[in-house]
Amino acid sequence: MQRTLALIKPDAVAAGHQGKIIAAIQESGLRLVAIKSLHLSTEQARGFYHVHAERPFFNDLVTFMTEGPIVAMVLEGDNAIKRWRDLMGPTNATEAPKDTLRGQFGTSIERNATHGSDAEDTAAFETGYFFAGLERL
Ligand code: CMP
Repeated sequence: MQRTLALIKPDAVAAGHQGKIIAAIQESGLRLVAIKSLHLSTEQARGFYHVHAERPFFNDLVTFMTEGPIVAMVLEGDNAIKRWRDLMGPTNATEAPKDTLRGQFGTSIERNATHGSDAEDTAAFETGYFFAGLERL
C-alpha cells in the first residue's frame, strides 16, 4: 500500500474541473484519504517546490501556483504514485493524451492542471507538507 500527494492546480480549480478530477480518482480505485482546499502564499509555494528553486521556470511556477485556490489530496492504494501519475499524463499538457487529466484539463507545460509526487521520498515530504498526521489517518 502506497500514498501520494495529488494537487488540483489553480488553472483547473478556476475552470471548475475539481469535480471531474475527483471523480476520475475515485473511479480509478484510489482511496481519497484526505482532501482540503487552500490558497498558497508565495512562501508556501516556494517551500513546496524547493527542489526546483534553481530552475529558470521557478518564479513563474510560484506565481502560477499562488494565483488562486488549489485542492490538495492524499491518495492511497497499491502502486498509488505511478497510478496517479498515469492518470495525470505527462507534465507537458500539450503533449498529454486526451484520455489523461492533463490532456483534458491542462493547457501548457506550466498550466498542467494537476500535480503528483514522483517517488516515495517526495510523497512522504509532500503529504506531510499539506496535511498534519491527524488529518491523514
Ligand atoms: P509539477 O508536476 O507540479 O512539477 C513541477 C512543475 O513545474 C510542473 O508540474 C509544471 O507545472 C512546471 N514545469 C515543469 N517544467 C517546466 C518548464 N520547462 N517550463 C515551465 N514550467 C514547468
